[in-house]
Amino acid sequence: MNSKFKRTLVTAALPYANGPVHIGHLAGCYLPSDIYVRYLRGIGHDVKFICGSDEHGVPITIKAKKEGVSPQAIVDKYHKIMGDSFKEFGISFDIYSRTSSKTHHQTASDFFKVLYEKGGFTEQTTEQYYDESAQQFLADRYIIGTCPNCQNPSAYGDQCEKCGTSLSPFDLKDPKSMLSGSKPILKETKNWFLPLDKLQPKIKAYIEKHGDWKSNVYGQCKSWLDSGDGLQPRAMTRDLDWGVPVPVKGAEGKVLYVWFDAPIGYISATKELLPDTWEDYWKKNDTRLIHFIGKDNIVFHCIIFPAMLMEHGEFILADNVPANEFLNLEGDKISTSRNWAVWLHEYLNEFKGKQDVLRYTLCANAPETKDNDFTWKDFQTKNNSELVAIFGNFINRTLVLTHKYYNGIVPSTSAYTKEDLLVLEELGKAPDKIAKAIEQFKFREAISEWMNVARVGNKYLAETEPWKLIKTDEERVKTIMNVALQISCNLAILAEPFLPFTSTKLFELLNLQALKWPSAKQTSNMAAGHIINKDELLFSKVEDADIQIQLDKLQLSKRQNAIPVAAKEIKPETSFDEFAKMDIRTATILEAEVVPKTDKLLKLKLDTGVDVRTVVSGIAAYYKPEDIIGQKVCLLANLAPRKIKGIESQGMILMAENANGELSFVAPTKPNFENGASVK
Ligand code: 2FM
Ligand code: ZN
Repeated sequence: MNSKFKRTLVTAALPYANGPVHIGHLAGCYLPSDIYVRYLRGIGHDVKFICGSDEHGVPITIKAKKEGVSPQAIVDKYHKIMGDSFKEFGISFDIYSRTSSKTHHQTASDFFKVLYEKGGFTEQTTEQYYDESAQQFLADRYIIGTCPNCQNPSAYGDQCEKCGTSLSPFDLKDPKSMLSGSKPILKETKNWFLPLDKLQPKIKAYIEKHGDWKSNVYGQCKSWLDSGDGLQPRAMTRDLDWGVPVPVKGAEGKVLYVWFDAPIGYISATKELLPDTWEDYWKKNDTRLIHFIGKDNIVFHCIIFPAMLMEHGEFILADNVPANEFLNLEGDKISTSRNWAVWLHEYLNEFKGKQDVLRYTLCANAPETKDNDFTWKDFQTKNNSELVAIFGNFINRTLVLTHKYYNGIVPSTSAYTKEDLLVLEELGKAPDKIAKAIEQFKFREAISEWMNVARVGNKYLAETEPWKLIKTDEERVKTIMNVALQISCNLAILAEPFLPFTSTKLFELLNLQALKWPSAKQTSNMAAGHIINKDELLFSKVEDADIQIQLDKLQLSKRQNAIPVAAKEIKPETSFDEFAKMDIRTATILEAEVVPKTDKLLKLKLDTGVDVRTVVSGIAAYYKPEDIIGQKVCLLANLAPRKIKGIESQGMILMAENANGELSFVAPTKPNFENGASVK
């Protein structure tokens, strides 16, 4: 740990309160930050862990419009859901606040005023997109169009989610209003801009001082600074009615840009957590500030927020911004709108008590240096072949044998052999190896070093074979089991940052108070004579059937998304007169048979109440002829007859088709309802 710093403030990106949390969120930002903070707490460092909901901005108001409720109702709902999910997965924030809080509104407003009074903004009247029918300016995500970089036709006015490029509404080709779908007009409005162009030299110096940042982060910052005309002024206010009101005269009806207020949320939340000492964490040079984020947030945390802090003048700047790349799911980008995601609240229902399995998989497979893929097969392998077969197996053998040979009492050691000493030496080195990897934000490497300790333990037992030796050399077995128990204890200590639930449970099984990280440097934490608790399995197998359920769920999302957009939309308006031309009648199927040489068609004889007629219908894949005799249906009776496979079809049966293309009869629900009744 760098001794220059007395304390560390860790922030995790404030997620928009417009939907639940999925594995991409966890892997990208919340899990690595939690591991980092837990480790720092473990070594006794003064650290605070800050997060909360980002409750302003267009993503919230769009969601509210879609659901027909107020933005406040949306943020209240999701603030709770998100906060609960984080807690249930052991993400150990010291505070999970929200940007709708009074403290935040005041803090963001004051921050803006300081910059305003210092002349830190330029006031500009510019033309912005405006939706005439909705009578609203179209900021950020209220406008969509084609990304100039990757041609994605649904890029937002602030960012293309496909290629990650940060955009302005004017970069989009064929812009459309999200509110009405119409082409927006341009209308003048006044806003306050942060002159990033003028601040460029200061920002550049700051970034270049941090050449040690992760290359994905440093590279993105450099390309922002060095490409084209460099940084451009950016509006810090918006013509919207949801957000922190702009606290200056002449700004009525305007709010702070969400990316101005959200990072100030880190400061507000620290104030709420530590009303008396928050300034130590934001204003003292011996505090280390670290922002954990996903890659789409890099520019805001490395350029815009530092620029705001520099202009304000009282605050320290981030010492590191260890952003992760994106996590994909089964080869495809995670997407809320396509329901291509693993939602944490659903996972918790389906894999009860297995939070650490997901934590382990996401950490071992974290998108640290490039985008990475989560697959359910890999999840199963990581559980069955690593957590169960290596770690779980080692612990279980150790505990079971300790009970079997010594009634759960830790045996004492006699002289160590060479192989004992080698194992103990490896065990002694593990904490520093893992610590070094964590301190460098290499969490994949860190968790793999942890699993290596269990591998060493497993190999040690496999080679020394105490279960055979017990018949010939009881003294030697005591030493072996003592060593195995020391390894188990150190695994519990070192597991804490990664697998906190498992660590707690293992300490319980060992009947020990949780020990802190520095104890793991010792290899004698389990005193001879100490009595352990009854053994219990720490991990159980994930079966193929469990995985299949998840894959089927994803397949369903895929099928639903494969429906052409046109089919999801309501057809253009029609008139009642047009509808009234259709003569739709109730009828009963009298006979049914498969049309020869086809596998889709049934030939039906129908009683229409007016006549008996023949209809050919493409329903054979969904109904067997023998099952539908007597079935009530609705028939379009005045459809012009047409020949199908040589049979004259005199009408058409109405069927409902679901998202998977499955068909169902549409029929009167009252029993014995007569045939020939007209459907209106
Ligand atoms: O991308 C997001 O979900 C943003 N709400 C992150 C904000 S981070 C910080 F600035 F608050
Ligand atoms: Zn793009």
